[in-house]
Amino acid sequence: MKILLFGKGGQVGWELQRSLAPLGELVALDFDSTDLHADFSQPDALASTVEKVRPDVIVNAAAHTAVDKAESEPELARTLNTTSPGVIATAAQRIGALMVHYSTDYVFDGSGDQPWKEDDATGPLSVYGRTKLEGEQLVAAHCPRHLIFRTSWVYAARGGNFAKTMLRLAKERERLTVIDDQFGAPTGAELLADVTAHAIRDTLREPDKKAGLYHLVADGVTTWHGYARFVLAQAQAAGVELKAGPDAVAPVPTSAFPTPARRPGNSRLDTSKLRQTFGLQLPSWQDGVTRMLRETL
Ligand SMILES: NC(=O)c1ccc[n+]([C@@H]2O[C@H](COP(=O)([O-])OP(=O)(O)OC[C@H]3O[C@@H](n4cnc5c(N)ncnc54)[C@H](OP(=O)(O)O)[C@@H]3O)[C@@H](O)[C@H]2O)c1
Repeated sequence: MKILLFGKGGQVGWELQRSLAPLGELVALDFDSTDLHADFSQPDALASTVEKVRPDVIVNAAAHTAVDKAESEPELARTLNTTSPGVIATAAQRIGALMVHYSTDYVFDGSGDQPWKEDDATGPLSVYGRTKLEGEQLVAAHCPRHLIFRTSWVYAARGGNFAKTMLRLAKERERLTVIDDQFGAPTGAELLADVTAHAIRDTLREPDKKAGLYHLVADGVTTWHGYARFVLAQAQAAGVELKAGPDAVAPVPTSAFPTPARRPGNSRLDTSKLRQTFGLQLPSWQDGVTRMLRETL
């Protein structure tokens, strides 16, 4: 089997390089790859990359993920998050490939307190959310053999992340303030990559039964405030000296940190469809964060 991966250097892309490797021959690209065009700001040329590689599976982990910046560069966000995935999906359909794509909890308006299901009404609050929603719609329309995974609050051990920022601030300051009215599940790039590999194998065997849109997040729910407290408690238990422990993290509403992009309050995603279709269990968000912290600390 041949797999073409776009966005190999991102949080999820990096972990996909590991998880997809055992499935077959992997051609992994970033936007500055020189041999094959993979720059999503020039969508049309992406079709020729697909034609040249002629993979059985295309995995797209590239995106415009700077949520606040997207508000001031909506054209670029749309090109990266909508047009380019659409071009790739059309090319994938032409060569009969399965297309795997990622989307986000930001396609929802964040109302209520129930976990969102795949077919619930969308209502993005931001340019990022809107362009990601249009991207998933184009992928589904142009390539019926697709897997689209909506996920949330992605972190990875490699590079910067929320937990590392909290640890740094807790070493510098005696008190932290963190948002406590956005609810979701921190989800590791490792988990996304591992589930993707399992789902690809299953879907190639039964594409008509398994292709589709799925919610994929770690189990459980928290707020950014709960997440920060958990991180600091784990760090203290591991003997890290902090000026601010978990009890020094004060909860504040989203309005305390005004940002250009509006974020949904309710980012809970219902994962039953994914668990039932692929017979998988999703570990708790605490399991993944604990593992990432052990690697980090
Ligand atoms: N991060 C989250 O919290 C989150 C939440 C929900 C859903 N998602 C979705 O999950 C997927 C993976 O996200 P991630 O967290 O791994 O994001 P990420 O770390 O920001 O990775 C995005 C990748 O896209 C690449 N990229 C940027 N501009 C490009 C261009 N013009 N052409 C080609 N590639 C370009 C980036 O390259 P450089 O790094 O070199 O710029 C990077 O490799 C995305 O679809 C995202 O929308 C993410």
